[in-house]
Amino acid sequence: MITLSQISKVYRTAAGELPVLEAVDLKIVRRDRISIVGPSGCGKSTLLHILGLLDAPTGGQIEFDGVRTLELDEAAQARFRNEKIGFIFQDHCLLPQCTVRENVLTPTLVGKSDPSAKERAEELLRRVGLAERLNHRPAELSGGEKQRVAIARALIRQPELLLCDEPTGNLDERTAGEVIELLLDLQNDSGMMMVVVTHSPALAERMERQYRMVGRRLEEVSK
Ligand SMILES: Nc1ncnc2c1ncn2[C@@H]1O[C@H](COP(=O)(O)OP(=O)(O)OP(=O)(O)O)[C@@H](O)[C@H]1O
Ligand SMILES: [Mg+2]
Repeated sequence: MITLSQISKVYRTAAGELPVLEAVDLKIVRRDRISIVGPSGCGKSTLLHILGLLDAPTGGQIEFDGVRTLELDEAAQARFRNEKIGFIFQDHCLLPQCTVRENVLTPTLVGKSDPSAKERAEELLRRVGLAERLNHRPAELSGGEKQRVAIARALIRQPELLLCDEPTGNLDERTAGEVIELLLDLQNDSGMMMVVVTHSPALAERMERQYRMVGRRLEEVSK
C-alpha cells in the first residue's frame, strides 16, 4: 500500500519559483489501476517522478509498505526503487548498444546477483511476443516492439508498483491498443499497483480509478 499525504512541489529556478503540486493526497492498494490526465505542463510527470522516488517533493509524506521513503538516504532510496518500482516512459529509453535480452536484464545488474534473472528475462520476452528477437539490438525493432522490451525491463524485478508516463504516446493507434492490452494482462497476472499518466482517453478509461490534475491537485473523475 502506498499513501501520499499533502505532497507539494515547487520548482526553484533562476527565473523564480514555480509551484506545481499542492496538497496532493493519494492512496494506492494492491491491484489498483489508476490513470492521471490533465493538460500539458500541469505536473503529471512531476507527480509520477515523486511517486517513483526519482524526484523529491517540497513538502508532504510518502509511505510505501510502511516505509517512510522520503526519510531514506539516497542509496536506500535507489535500492527501494530498484526492488519495488518499475518505470515505462513515452520514449522506451533502451540502451542502443545492448541486445534486447541485455536491456531487459539491466535492472538486475545492481545489488546481489540473481541467478534466475536470465530465465525470467526470456520468459518475459516470450510473454511480450519477442522470443525470436533476444539477440537483436533496439535499432532493429519497430516502435511497438521497443516499447514491449521496455515493458519486460520494467517487470524483470517483479515490482509492486508500475509507473507509466505516456506509455503509448509514440505509437500508432493499433500498436498503442496492443501495448495497452499487454500491460493490462501483465498487471492482472501479478496484481501490482499501476499508475498511468496519459493524454489518451482510451487508455485512461481502461483504469478503474481515474484522476485529473486540476489547479495543482488531484481530483477523482466520477464515472
Ligand atoms: N526540473 C524542472 N525545473 C523547473 N521547472 C520544471 C522542471 N520540470 C518540470 N518543470 C515545470 O513544471 C511544470 C510541470 O511539468 P511536468 O513535466 O510535470 O508536466 P506534465 O503534466 O507531465 O506535462 P506533459 O503532459 O507535457 O508531459 C511545467 O510547467 C514544467 O515547465
Ligand atoms: Mg509529462
